[in-house]
Amino acid sequence: MPEQPDYDLHLPKALTYPVPVALVSAGLATLLYFLLRRMPVLAGVLCGLSLLVGVVYTGVHVFLRRLTNLQFRLQARDKFLDGIPWRGDENVLDVGCGNGILTMGVAKRLTEGKVIGTDVWTEGSGANRLDVFVENARIEGVADRVEIQNENVRNLPYDDGAFDVVISGLTVHHLGFDTERAVREMVRVLRPGGWLAVYDEPSSVFYSARLMRRLGLMVERKTTNIVYGTKQSATTEPEARPR
Ligand SMILES: C[S@@+](CC[C@H](N)C(=O)[O-])C[C@H]1O[C@@H](n2cnc3c(N)ncnc32)[C@H](O)[C@@H]1O
Repeated sequence: MPEQPDYDLHLPKALTYPVPVALVSAGLATLLYFLLRRMPVLAGVLCGLSLLVGVVYTGVHVFLRRLTNLQFRLQARDKFLDGIPWRGDENVLDVGCGNGILTMGVAKRLTEGKVIGTDVWTEGSGANRLDVFVENARIEGVADRVEIQNENVRNLPYDDGAFDVVISGLTVHHLGFDTERAVREMVRVLRPGGWLAVYDEPSSVFYSARLMRRLGLMVERKTTNIVYGTKQSATTEPEARPR
C-alpha cells in the first residue's frame, strides 16, 4: 500500500469522554430528582442543568469528531482552496500550518510558485509536529515547492507585501486577544491585489471578516466558516505593523 500522509488532528483530551460524561450527567440528574423530590422547582432546575451539561458536552464532541474526520477535512480543504483564483506561480504563506494539510493542498496547485508553512509547534498543537509536516511534504511529492518555518503569526518576520496569497486554517481561534494583531500581520505581508483566506469556526471567521474590512480589504466572499478578502492597492494602513 502506498505511504499515506498524516493529517491527523486530535480532539482536545478534555473532550474525549462522551460516554462517561453522559452517564454521570444522567446519573446525577436521577439522584437529584430522588433527593430533592419534595422541592420540585429546585429539583427541576438542578436536574435540567445536569442533563444540559451532558447534552452540550456530547454535542460538542460529535461536532468536533466530524470536523476532525480525515475525509471531511480533505473535502473542506479543497472547497476552501477552490475559492482562490490560482495562477500557479504564487508566493503563498500558510499561517498555523500544523501537519500541512492546507500547505500541501496549495503546493499541488502550484507550478512555479512556493508555499511557506509556518507554525509555533507548541504543546497545544495537538498532533501537529514539524517532522510530520516534513514527512507529509515528501509523501505528497511536493517537497520542492514547500518550506517550513517556525514563526509566530503575532510577529511575522516577512517584508510588507511579500506574499500573493496568505491562508490560515483553524488557527485564528487559538489567538484570543491577539487576533487583531495576527490579522494585521497577515494583511501587512500580503501584496496589494493579493488574497487573504481564513477558514475557522464561525465566530473567528466573523471577527476576521470585520477586521479585514477595517484594515481596508475587500471581502470577496464569506460563509459561516470561510472568508476571502483581497487587498486593495491603497489598503496599507500606516500603523498596520504591530508594535
Ligand atoms: C488546529 S491546528 C490547525 C492546523 C492546520 N492549519 C489544519 O488546518 O489542520 C492550529 C495550529 O495553529 C498553530 N498556532 C497556534 N498559535 C499560533 C501562532 N501564534 N502562530 C503560529 N501558529 C500558531 C498551532 O500550533 C497549531 O498547529
